[in-house]
Amino acid sequence: MRVVLGIETSCDETAAAVVDATFAVRSSVVESSLDQHRPFGGVVPELAGRAHVATIGPVVARALDEAGLDPRAPAIDAVAVTSGPGLIGSLLVGLSAAKAYALAWGVPFVGVNHLEGHLFAPLLEAPALEWPLMTLLVSGGHSMIVWQRSPTDHQVLGETIDDAAGEAYDKVARWLGLGYPGGPEMDRLAREGNAQALRLPVSMVGDSLDVSFSGLKTAVVRATEKNHEIALADVAASFQSAVCEQLLRKLTQAVTTHEVRAVALAGGVAANSALRAGVEGLAREYGLACYLPSRAMCTDNAAMIAAAGLARIEVSGPSSFDLSAEPNWLLSEV
Ligand code: KG4
Ligand code: ZN
Repeated sequence: MRVVLGIETSCDETAAAVVDATFAVRSSVVESSLDQHRPFGGVVPELAGRAHVATIGPVVARALDEAGLDPRAPAIDAVAVTSGPGLIGSLLVGLSAAKAYALAWGVPFVGVNHLEGHLFAPLLEAPALEWPLMTLLVSGGHSMIVWQRSPTDHQVLGETIDDAAGEAYDKVARWLGLGYPGGPEMDRLAREGNAQALRLPVSMVGDSLDVSFSGLKTAVVRATEKNHEIALADVAASFQSAVCEQLLRKLTQAVTTHEVRAVALAGGVAANSALRAGVEGLAREYGLACYLPSRAMCTDNAAMIAAAGLARIEVSGPSSFDLSAEPNWLLSEV
């Protein structure tokens, strides 16, 4: 397998990328329908699906063109596409397009788990990654600690029992009257605030490696209802500190109880400044290599899907053209 076209349409990003067998990214195009969803305070599935239909063709053509390939007869060896988890109407657009391209070009196609895709993001920017690796995968839809012995051999050690970390950021931001998605603005405000201003609980979910954010969200609501004078920056700083403390405590527990040589961050919340600094500090303290993907690689993109597709075809072979979208496909089922 030499050159793979990746396609990603699981949520609000329509993305296509060309990646080669050395994991070099030859092109990566991402179009987002986020502006259409902002007024609603969350992704509206119907709008996302329609946007994918309108955008997928031009996005794929651009990705091929930027990779120096002829869009009508590209030298592509396989097509990889996210087939789950995600919004069913959005997944079906990418999956149908991927099958059509693969049939037209006479090449195999492979369905990729979106979360496994996120695990490939650090690898694309640091090909000489060290294993075993402990990855904290935190996004708007998921929060999990994954132990990886190789790119395709992974075990979910713990995950959120309620809200995802990004979801908690977005809900608290909404409560505070900030725009959607609220994570980036909360992060910016937090840097100007006092993290000791509010006393917030750090959930520990017993001895497990699971995390929980709904109690924290409720505590922020209660504390701000009682205290109308408190500065937004102080609320953001206190909340961010509690989120990072919980995630870092669990990540520390994971790296001290498992054999690891490195830690990595993945998913949209991996763009968070405090979390990045915390993971770097943890890696230094335990003498581990540390991989923090760039912001573009943390958020949804198709380069990570192409990379996961390359590896999956090697390990499990291509998918059948009967493959359907799996909106609830768990990483542990891959
Ligand atoms: O991975 P992603 O792009 O989409 C999926 O959920 O798959 O992650 C988006 C999430 C949103 O909840 C957003 O608020 C959060 O990542 N996010 C952040 C930051 N940047 C994005 N959360 C905290 N701090 C940030 N700097
Ligand atoms: Zn994602």
